[in-house]
Amino acid sequence: MKTKQLYLSDSYLKQADAKVAEIEQNEKITVVYLDQTIFYAQGGGQPADIGIIAGKNGTLTVSHVSYNNGKIQHKGMLSGTLEENDVVTLTIDWKKRYENMQLHTAGHVLDQAVKNIIPNVYGVDGTHGIQGKNYIEFNEEIKPDQLPQIQKEIENICAAGEDITTQMVTHAEIKAMGIHLPFDLPKNKDLRIMSIGSYPAMPDGGTQLKNTGECWPISVDSVQEKKNLWRVQYSVKHPQHKKSPESIKKKKEEHLPLVSLEELKVHATRLEQEVKADVDEGSPDLHTKYLGKNGLFNQLAKTIKDIGPAERKQAGMLLNQVKAKITAALKQTTTKQQHSAIDLTMPGTAPHVGHLHPVTQAMREITDIFEQIGFTRVRYPEVDWDWYVFESLNMPPHHPARDEWETFFVDVPDTTKDVAYDSNNPRKRHPSLVGGKVVLTTHTSNGQVREMERMDSTPPIRFINIARCYRRQQDATHTQMFHQFEGLVIDKHITIQHLKGTLDHFAQHFYGPTVKSRIRPFHFQFTEPSFEVDFSCHICDGTGVVNGEKCKFCKSGWHEVGGAGMVHPNVLKAGGIDPDIYTGFAFGWGVERTYTLKPGLNIDDIRLLYSSNIQFLEQF
Ligand code: PHE
Repeated sequence: MKTKQLYLSDSYLKQADAKVAEIEQNEKITVVYLDQTIFYAQGGGQPADIGIIAGKNGTLTVSHVSYNNGKIQHKGMLSGTLEENDVVTLTIDWKKRYENMQLHTAGHVLDQAVKNIIPNVYGVDGTHGIQGKNYIEFNEEIKPDQLPQIQKEIENICAAGEDITTQMVTHAEIKAMGIHLPFDLPKNKDLRIMSIGSYPAMPDGGTQLKNTGECWPISVDSVQEKKNLWRVQYSVKHPQHKKSPESIKKKKEEHLPLVSLEELKVHATRLEQEVKADVDEGSPDLHTKYLGKNGLFNQLAKTIKDIGPAERKQAGMLLNQVKAKITAALKQTTTKQQHSAIDLTMPGTAPHVGHLHPVTQAMREITDIFEQIGFTRVRYPEVDWDWYVFESLNMPPHHPARDEWETFFVDVPDTTKDVAYDSNNPRKRHPSLVGGKVVLTTHTSNGQVREMERMDSTPPIRFINIARCYRRQQDATHTQMFHQFEGLVIDKHITIQHLKGTLDHFAQHFYGPTVKSRIRPFHFQFTEPSFEVDFSCHICDGTGVVNGEKCKFCKSGWHEVGGAGMVHPNVLKAGGIDPDIYTGFAFGWGVERTYTLKPGLNIDDIRLLYSSNIQFLEQF
């Protein structure tokens, strides 16, 4: 049985009775078919109506309406029960529908206005509110500069207050009337034509206003070409938001949709059903959504001012009931949530905290240990004159000892003037006088003469210089960039004993109280005598034997860490210090090497320290 579409003959029906013809119950959605309906089934560019279908034992909240082979299906959520042959009351959301009517009629007015201006042009397709879009597509070009004229014509048609009439017809009648058909007519629907005033009729199945004077202000917004059709976009504004000419306004007021009690009931039922669904699904934050200051209940309650005085009291009572129902429904959530309540006594997840790089940690520890015995941390350039890195350290140009430092040279012009090296007065070749080559510092010993200069060649000097160094070598125990720390002490009467005492102090504080230092004869150009420094192994306590076997960590009882010695007289001279009055000692070791020998670390490849491997670095 076809559904009778009451809205085709009266688009102002807000409420009507009907009989249930058929019901389909799916999991959540119920589909109801009726003998007749006021619900507009989506089509012709107009969106479907929403509202409620209320029977004596149940209510369907209608969320969509569409055609199904001549029958109209009302889809929605059912609370209670509905049965075939039940007599039901249909109520549509009138505010929404009236807006749809405004948009639809506006489309026809726009179509008519264009036809009045450009002969032979007609609208081929249109959308009036579906997905927020409103446009008519015309078969011929409309230029943007014609839009103001079209706008003016629309205003004329509205101001003229033309009656809009409709008439049910058959296919044959339409043909006989010679009505222009820009599109194929549907075969399975009742046919209707509409006309604005005395303008030619055209097929239309939508819901239309009664008079063009009722139109809210229409504005033509833009025109765009799309696949050889010209799409004119338009919009309408509720006259309460915009001032409109007095005459139009007056006519509109007669039909302005104030909210009726019935409409309030529609919204109330929808709200109650939404709460129930949300509670069933266990959605979060329901109190705010429904009962919060800007919650859905307050939004609904605000409409009471739009309800006529006669119905206001009942509306108030209805709102009270709605609030009580929402509160009751939300109470259920609270009990539900209590079962899965959050355990406030559970320990939280600790935020991830990073730490300093192990090499930085080592440098800070080394600094602390030397500061305890009166050393001061200094810093000198990483890119320096050959003079400070080699020549002032008693290594004249081309001296073979330089080969031990696998040097990176910096590509800048060498401005050296040819001044002969004189070991009695090395300062003659100072870079401020002769220029020189520039290198990446191969060791922290470049700080020695720089410190003497900084101190105006006046001891005492007691520094700890920690800096990056660079050498052209890379393997398990060497990286091209590494760090050294260098000690330098210059004063009167400084002896090897001071050096030895300083080394022991460091060994005990850095490695452990039982660790001792040892010095062995060696050769450096810038110290005389020179030594290599070893520390006793903390695993085998310097014996080289663990449980009767050779210590695997040191193999000999000792670890070699670096060089040291008494500052060579030529170096003191290069720094302007008289070697007959002052003596000094110096030592210099790699930070990485010194650090990896610490008890418990056991890092056999120092390249790992610079691998940016967080898993590795996080251990320190
Ligand atoms: N500069 C030397 C090196 O890099 C170490 C050293 C420093 C030796 C101070 C003696 C005195 O190997």
